[in-house]
Amino acid sequence: MTMTPSLRKFALTAHVTSSVGWLGAVAAFLVLAVSGLTSQDAQMVRAAYLAMELIAWFVIVPLALASLLTGLVMSLGTPWGLFQNYWVLFKLLITVVATIVLLLQMEPISYIAGVAAETTLSSADLREARISLVVHAGGGLLVLLVPMILSVYKPRGMTRYGRRKQHERRTESQP
Ligand code: HEM
Repeated sequence: MTMTPSLRKFALTAHVTSSVGWLGAVAAFLVLAVSGLTSQDAQMVRAAYLAMELIAWFVIVPLALASLLTGLVMSLGTPWGLFQNYWVLFKLLITVVATIVLLLQMEPISYIAGVAAETTLSSADLREARISLVVHAGGGLLVLLVPMILSVYKPRGMTRYGRRKQHERRTESQP
């Protein structure tokens, strides 16, 4: 099931846009999480948490799901395959884990935003949960750099299954 060259370019554009966009949106989220935690200005703190909830639900989650989905399309629709090359397999694992952690963070994000909307948060209120958002966003950003780097360098290592497939392809193409 290989894609035509023009379809492959189209799908790759969607894949790179969603994946790298996800990284950028997490960077914006991190800045807001740090301001929400450290700012002395109550308006700034409220604005930060309200904006974080919107960015998380309407930018980060959709981009993460799109990155995963288009990544699957790129793997299964090209000779790279999903289980044949270690770089693709690691990207899949990291992206799935990052997406699960992200989805688990959505409840605390919405909770903090709800409290921030209704009351004025002092620097002690929900402190642990607010620190946890900074840690998760910072950690997420670093973790997402791994699939980014793997994609560009594409280290050669193939799985046992990948080597068998490659062998089959070579013998099939011989008359
Ligand atoms: C945050 C996660 C991800 C990032 C930052 C990312 C980034 C990228 C980038 C920049 C490229 C273009 C590389 C190039 O053309 O030289 C690429 C290609 C690719 N990605 Fe991802 N990706 C992510 C997730 C995934 C996932 C989850 C999969 C598989 C399940 C995947 C599979 C692929 C494949 C197979 C290609 C090669 C496509 C081709 O040769 O046409 N990616 N990715």
